[in-house]
Amino acid sequence: MNINKIASIVAVSAGIFAVTACGGKSMRKLAAERGLDTGYALAAGDIYPEKTVKILQNDCNIITSENCMKWGYMRPKKDFWNWGDPDALVAFAEKNGMKVKWHTLAWHQSNPPFLADMKTRADGIAMLDDYITTIMTRYKGRIYAYDVINEMFNEDGTLRDTIWLETIGPDYIEHALQTAHAADPAAKLYLNEYNNEAAGYAKSDAMYAMVKDFKERGVPIDGIGMQLHLAADQPFDEAAVRRNLQRYAAIGIDVSFSEVDVRKKVDGKPESAQAQQDLYCRLMRIALEEKNVKSFICWGFSDIHSWVPASFPGYGEALFYNTALKPKLVYKAVVKTIAENHE
Ligand code: XIL
Repeated sequence: MNINKIASIVAVSAGIFAVTACGGKSMRKLAAERGLDTGYALAAGDIYPEKTVKILQNDCNIITSENCMKWGYMRPKKDFWNWGDPDALVAFAEKNGMKVKWHTLAWHQSNPPFLADMKTRADGIAMLDDYITTIMTRYKGRIYAYDVINEMFNEDGTLRDTIWLETIGPDYIEHALQTAHAADPAAKLYLNEYNNEAAGYAKSDAMYAMVKDFKERGVPIDGIGMQLHLAADQPFDEAAVRRNLQRYAAIGIDVSFSEVDVRKKVDGKPESAQAQQDLYCRLMRIALEEKNVKSFICWGFSDIHSWVPASFPGYGEALFYNTALKPKLVYKAVVKTIAENHE
């Protein structure tokens, strides 16, 4: 037998081993067995076509909504609550044994015009409390976690100037957490941010200090989200990210990798695809190894629809499935990473 033949037999058996090592189990099941929920942010229509439903059933132990749970969609007018799409997503999740993470109760974007009518602190508190309480009472016991506030910091670690900061003041964040906790004490309450993953960066450190202070003063908070909209061709300081995760673990705070996408230059170069694959697998390994990371949620699942091309010109192909809804190599590599991770 010549050397090439031996090499190909070895390669084939390695392939068979890789498949049996996963035991034919889905990404969702493999990750859940290791204490991590995987899933995707969905557009409202994703829960209907048979092909996408199969993908979601296979991959998701948790789902969130890309847009339909934001103020602008949820309550576009003061007297109109748009329950249709959120109700359908929650029902879909329940039918398929998936958790739901609500994104989001307060943000500086996607705010309806009538919010400009708020003038005083009392107006702000009344508006925010009514919104939070109405939603959380409707879904009481059915939503696993809420992104109570999204993107509250500037890059320098000061609080972002938002309609909520302006009308209520800097305690709007803890106020919202208190109100949310009163409405559904079992729901996990998260604060969600971007560029907050690496310890030593002003925004990350400010967020950590705020959360630690909340914990010490008994303000209800369970976790923080790291959005992780990353680029394959930019540096990633794994040690600083792990340090940050570990300091949150030390104060009993869970973490969600909440909006993961790793965009790449759309240049057809194998190096770009490889860099993307490496970073995705690294992120997954971190999520599995740092035990306070509870979920790994990608911001979509296929190249048919992603916010990346419009938001980062020249970049794209940031998710696990291609435009024909076939899993890409990056997906297979991530699933293999999960299968190979034993503690
Ligand atoms: C984005 C959606 O993907 C877009 O469809 C929408 O037009 C704007 O919002 N951080 C967040 C998400 O917290 O809510 C954003 O989602 C992406 C960045």
